[in-house]
Amino acid sequence: MRRTLAEVLGVDVGLLQSGMGGVAGAELACAVSNAGAAGCAGGYKLIGGALSAMLARLTAGTDRPVGVNLIPEVVGPEELDRQVAQVLDETPEHVHLSFFGMPADAVFERVGATGRPMVVQVGSVADGVHAAERGAVVVAQGVEAGGHLLGTAKRDDLVAALRAQLPDACLVASGGIGSPAEAGRALAAGADGVLLGTAFVVAHESRAHAYFKAAVTAADESDTVITDVYEIGWPGRRHRVLATAATADPGQAKKFIGRTVVEGKPYLVPRFSSAVPTDATTGRIEEMAMYCGRSCSAISDEISAADVVAAFARVLPGAAAVSDKKG
Ligand SMILES: Cc1cc2nc3c(=O)[nH]c(=O)nc-3n(C[C@H](O)[C@H](O)[C@H](O)COP(=O)(O)O)c2cc1C
Repeated sequence: MRRTLAEVLGVDVGLLQSGMGGVAGAELACAVSNAGAAGCAGGYKLIGGALSAMLARLTAGTDRPVGVNLIPEVVGPEELDRQVAQVLDETPEHVHLSFFGMPADAVFERVGATGRPMVVQVGSVADGVHAAERGAVVVAQGVEAGGHLLGTAKRDDLVAALRAQLPDACLVASGGIGSPAEAGRALAAGADGVLLGTAFVVAHESRAHAYFKAAVTAADESDTVITDVYEIGWPGRRHRVLATAATADPGQAKKFIGRTVVEGKPYLVPRFSSAVPTDATTGRIEEMAMYCGRSCSAISDEISAADVVAAFARVLPGAAAVSDKKG
């Protein structure tokens, strides 16, 4: 029996907000969850007191289903274990775990034993099958996506191939979805819901730098490029970003071009850093990693997270659709 996102995550709307490190803090995640979809806070490299501070705000801000996103490849297995332990220890059961890329089987077992849902974003059929067999909601990321790219397949080709292999899995489409019409195409390919990243970068509650938000609303897909130049902090992964002087000339010196603050701690930002410019970043924002999907063609206004959810709710399955069927 195919389970809906409403049943697995407890959401009213089959929409997941990407837990974008730096951009998606507790404020954005809670706003999305309080609007009926699944918000998600970016855990990225947060650990110890910095992660606790974010988890406390997340827990205080909503009692609806909400997630914390972690990235196994960025932190490595030991630090990931510590992050997972902190999330499980410090948050109530309505907080689920979301992973970008595949965690080890021990992580699936540990989270599975708590009964909390897991969401895993993948870029290939093999990884999708692997995650689904371990009970996770599978997010199929297409190459249209903003940010870090897990594969090379087009979104709806990957969704359709996964649906053929996994008729009962809870399957979410990600990459290039900036409008309800595009979400409808992903559902037609076989998805149960959608995950949006770039559409939430420009939300009022997002912590993206104002320059970054304005650049996304002004851009169309031809302004995005796939590059591996933003490697400091996350080597060996291709990202889709807005084209910048850094993507145009990767030979430039790796000098410091800005400063930022993460959970109260100051950092210098080198040119080619994988860190996104946030509202706490100063310096040469226009050269930094502004992750952006092909979805930007359909995104032209900075609006509230609740308005993003409401716009997409019209085409997405949710609790109402489920109870209609039951009734
Ligand atoms: C600014 C930005 C930061 C991102 N950071 C993360 C992250 O920390 N964790 C993650 O799972 N995905 C991250 N992603 C990728 C998204 O999960 C997703 O694959 C992508 O946003 C989907 O394409 P779209 O941007 O066209 O909606 C990020 C995407 C963007 C745009």
